[in-house]
Amino acid sequence: MEQFDTIIIGAGAAGLFCAKFAAAKGARVLVVDHAKRPAEKVRISGGGRCNFTNLDAGPDNYLSQNPHFAKSALARYTQWDFIELLAQHGITWHEKTLGQLFCDGKSAAIVEMLLHEARAADLRLSTTVDEVTHDGTEFRVSLSRREVATRHLVIASGGKSIPKMGATGLGYQIAAQFGVPLVETRPGLVPLTFGPQDLDWIVPLAGTALDARVGAGGTSFDEALLFTHRGLSGPAVLQASNYWREGEEIHVDLLPARSAFDALKAARSENGRRQMHTALSLLFPTKLAAALAQKWNLTGNLADQSDAKLHALADLIHSLPLKPTGSEGYRTAEVTLGGVNTDALSSKTMETNSVPGLYFIGEVVDVTGWLGGYNFQWAWASAAACGRAI
Ligand code: FDA
Repeated sequence: MEQFDTIIIGAGAAGLFCAKFAAAKGARVLVVDHAKRPAEKVRISGGGRCNFTNLDAGPDNYLSQNPHFAKSALARYTQWDFIELLAQHGITWHEKTLGQLFCDGKSAAIVEMLLHEARAADLRLSTTVDEVTHDGTEFRVSLSRREVATRHLVIASGGKSIPKMGATGLGYQIAAQFGVPLVETRPGLVPLTFGPQDLDWIVPLAGTALDARVGAGGTSFDEALLFTHRGLSGPAVLQASNYWREGEEIHVDLLPARSAFDALKAARSENGRRQMHTALSLLFPTKLAAALAQKWNLTGNLADQSDAKLHALADLIHSLPLKPTGSEGYRTAEVTLGGVNTDALSSKTMETNSVPGLYFIGEVVDVTGWLGGYNFQWAWASAAACGRAI
């Protein structure tokens, strides 16, 4: 039987990065993945340019049942460390917006870099993990029907998002098998869907985008909102989806940068004969203005509107309550919320408290970042914490 010091399940962002550190001290490290190609999510991320980290990444940008858990790993492998590594590989980058860093060229350069950094490890692709057992001293892993053994087993198999790209629930199954507790999983960074009543006015607007503030569960994000054939998407909605729970409302401020009341009042003084939908088109794309005027039954012209009526309209514009019926689910979700309960892990090493030698890193852990490079930063940081400790 082949013997390894460390076996890493999952050759994604976290798994490959962990191999870099774990194999650095001459240890025998094996990375296995059932996919044909490594780090597919890195390759397709950020529209092919990989939003690999965020200048502002810090613990406050993550959701977890224990908000303190990520602090240690994030502090010990920072965005600056990753930027330094890119410099060593001659990979240039730019800030797009809100601290989000993207490659100047293709994200394939990052995949190449990860493979190069992990070159001391064995990499076996198109390999299935049939069974994992522990005999009291070491782990036995059946890989495409061949058994291998190891003292350290690192689970880096990611979340459930986008099964088409190879996502499976393997990490959660292994956790359950070894009695490691889980926090319920749900799709994150995902478009929200709506019932027929809302779709009546949303669907004709499909393709329309505007800057908005979208709030859910007490947190709000100022970014673009996009109307789609199924409901709402765009960065502001994806961000808010992490904080939204089924049955709750979201609140949309359609004009976050200015006062709708002041703008409408000024428009009324300037030309009171404007119809209401024309008045709204001073603030919004024409199609949206017409849809809102119809949705809110706004008839007559601006001169007909008292200050009180304008205030009521401004309130709707700044805090439009909407009740999603669901989300587009794991089919399109960028991440999986929940996962391996951090209470069961060491924040220094990612090792489980109850099963020595068993580690969980990356998205399979109950640490989920905002949109904007934060999730890769967690993959790098948790992988470094684990790989250095092994
Ligand atoms: P990851 O999913 O990367 O890797 C897991 C690996 O395990 C995969 O290679 C998979 O094949 C393998 N695996 C799964 N089940 C297995 C099994 N049963 N047997 C063997 N192998 C198995 N984040 C960010 O910060 N910036 C961004 O720009 C983007 N963009 C983005 C776009 C899209 C479309 C998606 C879906 C996601 C993003 N993300 C992102 C999120 C980011 O991709 C994600 O958080 C990290 O890839 C997580 O890294 P992991 O290594 O934990 O999992």
